[in-house]
Amino acid sequence: MVVLGIETSCDETSAALVADGRSALVDIVASQADLHARWGGVVPEVASRMHVERVLPVVQEAMEKAKITSAEIDGIAVTNRPGLIGALVVGVAAAKALALAWNRPLVGVHHLIGHIYACYLAEPRLVPPFVCLIVSGGHTELIYVDRTGECTVLGRTRDDAAGECLDKCARMLDLPYPGGAHLERLAEQGDPQRVPLPRAWLEGSADFSFSGLKTAVARYLKQNAHEFRREDVAAALQGAVVDVLVEKTVAAARSVGVEAIGIGGGVAANRTLSRAMADAARTAGIRCITPLPPLCTDNASMIAAAGYDRLIRGEDDGLGLDAAASAPLPRASSVEGT
Ligand code: KG4
Ligand code: ZN
Repeated sequence: MVVLGIETSCDETSAALVADGRSALVDIVASQADLHARWGGVVPEVASRMHVERVLPVVQEAMEKAKITSAEIDGIAVTNRPGLIGALVVGVAAAKALALAWNRPLVGVHHLIGHIYACYLAEPRLVPPFVCLIVSGGHTELIYVDRTGECTVLGRTRDDAAGECLDKCARMLDLPYPGGAHLERLAEQGDPQRVPLPRAWLEGSADFSFSGLKTAVARYLKQNAHEFRREDVAAALQGAVVDVLVEKTVAAARSVGVEAIGIGGGVAANRTLSRAMADAARTAGIRCITPLPPLCTDNASMIAAAGYDRLIRGEDDGLGLDAAASAPLPRASSVEGT
């Protein structure tokens, strides 16, 4: 079964074709990062307008590159929640138009569930249960995927997302938006031990907090106005974020008794994070799935992969499919193995 995936929840316009839910044939991503950089963040109205211009061209480009015609596409999957509402609506409207024109089933996909499916694309033999850390500009969530594939939240950030903290601190260091990847490059030349930064462990909870770290960086820069090395601040900041993410993810995986950990979301493209997670998981005797960076940042392959599991069951949301800006996943009430 070939599924067309469409993703427009934030500032990437993406279309992908995936075969049998696990094999990405082609993924086209038109990033708007350059456009938003001058504003230091995503401008929702600008994002929506760019999606309108780009969504059908990226679908066409994906089909041309994969040499696949509409007759060979069996179903369509589109991100319909959560995200910037104007941006989501553009993708959903385009997906509905194609479903109607081609007479194909259409399913809406939760963006975070999509990020989890990047792990199945990276490791097609992955079988739940496992714990997945989704860490991006808008989310920091520890998700338990049970043996039926059902997803519930073990912990999430109580304030800033990790990527949001990195992006805001990167801005304080005069790095361009989005700052995560720039910070990673700068950190390579820095000493993480030279700048003392706090870690919010929130003992006894799988939740996270990153706003205190952001404030500590701002205070450090102010107090040491001309005496700090930017690369040391970048390395210390990255180290503080990675320490908390890794330790809490491995602790959660051990407490629910799973044998695999996955990571996803834009911040998971960070090599210091993926290496530290893989090392800590190995020490704990747990497998770690670390998708390559293009599968971590927003992409439509993960949406097609997630949609496939619904389409194969004969599900069809039809032309009544709606978009929603907010759609929190439910908290885990009890977890097998605990
Ligand atoms: O998943 P994503 O592409 O979009 C959202 O759904 O938010 O994640 C974007 C986030 C941004 O905060 C960006 O700075 C961060 O991912 N990011 C990184 C790296 N690449 C992207 N953070 C750290 N290291 C990276 N290499
Ligand atoms: Zn995302």
